[in-house]
Amino acid sequence: MERIAFPLDGAWEMAPVEQAVELRWWGPRIRSGLSEGFPIATRKVRVPSAWNDGRDPELNLFRGSCVYIKDFRLPAAFKGRRTVLRFDAVGQRCTVYLDGEALGSHEGGYTPFSFDLAGKAAPGRSHRLVVVANNQRSEQTFPAISGDFESYGGIYRSVEIIGLPAVHMDKMLAIPSLSADGRGELSISVSVRNDSKRRREIELRAAVTGRGLKYISTRAVTVKAGAVASVTLKMRIPGVSPWSPESPAMYDLAVSAAGDRLRKRVGFRRIEVKGNHLLLNGRPIRLRGANRHDDHPDFGPCLPDAVIRRDLELAKSINCNALRLAHYPHREKTYELADELGILLWTEIPFVGGDVWTGDVRRRNLALQNMLRELIERDCHHPSVILWSVGNEVASDHPACRRFMAPLYKLARRMDKTRLVTFASNRGTNEIVSQPFSDVAGVNQYYGWYSASVNDVSGNMDSIHRALGKPIIVSEFGAECPRGRRGRKDRWTEDYQVALYRHNLRVLGAKRYVVGLFPWALFDFRSHRRMNVLQHGWNRKGIFDDRRRPKLVAKVVREFYGRMARGEG
Ligand code: GCU
Repeated sequence: MERIAFPLDGAWEMAPVEQAVELRWWGPRIRSGLSEGFPIATRKVRVPSAWNDGRDPELNLFRGSCVYIKDFRLPAAFKGRRTVLRFDAVGQRCTVYLDGEALGSHEGGYTPFSFDLAGKAAPGRSHRLVVVANNQRSEQTFPAISGDFESYGGIYRSVEIIGLPAVHMDKMLAIPSLSADGRGELSISVSVRNDSKRRREIELRAAVTGRGLKYISTRAVTVKAGAVASVTLKMRIPGVSPWSPESPAMYDLAVSAAGDRLRKRVGFRRIEVKGNHLLLNGRPIRLRGANRHDDHPDFGPCLPDAVIRRDLELAKSINCNALRLAHYPHREKTYELADELGILLWTEIPFVGGDVWTGDVRRRNLALQNMLRELIERDCHHPSVILWSVGNEVASDHPACRRFMAPLYKLARRMDKTRLVTFASNRGTNEIVSQPFSDVAGVNQYYGWYSASVNDVSGNMDSIHRALGKPIIVSEFGAECPRGRRGRKDRWTEDYQVALYRHNLRVLGAKRYVVGLFPWALFDFRSHRRMNVLQHGWNRKGIFDDRRRPKLVAKVVREFYGRMARGEG
């Protein structure tokens, strides 16, 4: 018997309920009568969507809590199955209730989480699901209040209820790599749950197929009644085609336990650092990248698949072979398309700014570790992902921050030994986290924009490299200009942006220890911090504007990255 799903996307009732939240008034009332009308005016919204994606003028700048209500009946097919309620993401934190009973809370607006509904939801009965979402920021939140991008609020990724057979896989993580002798390596960790009343002997089966290859591995597993068994299958597959941006070879992976089945797409590649070099499949590679936010003027954070595909194709059109997904996990579709299109990914948890010494620091650290765990669990099978980033522009010149970040590096390495771990620093030579912890150092620098002269970039980068003694990825540089604004004198012009890029690309591209360049940013993006006559609520540092129209600098990047790709740069 396979698993089944009941989608909860579509029409929901929604209302900003700041006051009501403090009063917690909705709890007992809901229990007392499902048919009771909702005491405040709700509006119909489509899930997934964000309340502040620009379409609702009343909520466009709203920072607070909104309550979402959905009444549903499970189909008969869910009878006798374990039911799990899964959210792909809710911004930025939420508490979830079923029929007035709290199921739990989740901190973090960009990764999936779920609640077991065992014994709480039954087919045929009417149920009321209530989600209270909050998008407020402070110095203690992740991202912190200084984060220069929109804090989208709401259920802005899909929701569903999954019905699981008596024997099923609670979790399945597949981590692919490539051995030095060219065989595909796959480590598959599965937890098999047996909800039946008797002990079960089952066959765990993993099949890798595609491109003329069929490779199967099986393992007999015994699971006691009502218990969970954790198993790891290690596969070494001869004859695979290595995955690379030039040839993004993908395979199908199907894992089954009794009747339950999970599918993923995987590819086999190897990423490592040797001296001052980054090696992909054993050969030196330099990342020709750009930074991207999961943001669009028409869709907020809910970009349709076709728009994401076009974004990645635009990156390839300027000869990028890599993208930094700033500053949080993007929709999973982005990773799937990067696998298929051959784009290497830097992906990050939203540890952006803020402090690490106020509030319940231990609880905050555990919340961030949980965001990292959810990211790695969701995306560890994507060959495109080569870098886990544990933060951006935090107080990494402070010992307290080094202590705060150490567990993040440790967790990433414990969960995945095949990828590199880093973060993006703006602390220059005062940096004290990258040296001990990062495999490759991420350096944000804005010489010629926030810092005086672009001519200082070369010397500055050399001193950082001397201090860190490891290869550097320039994770950010850039300049701001509304598209169409021209003139050499003024900094806020396309001409100035072109000049600054020419200098940075030429100087930084010539440094052998610079193994990656990621201009800030691929597209203009929304930011509540940019409310002024020039920016109108948008960060205008894009190579393309928010409507994906190129600025003059796009040609500069395309030509420079083209030369780099041909080994001329
Ligand atoms: C920072 C930061 C970005 C921000 C950018 C900017 O370095 O990491 O999130 O948008 O600079 O100021 O444009």
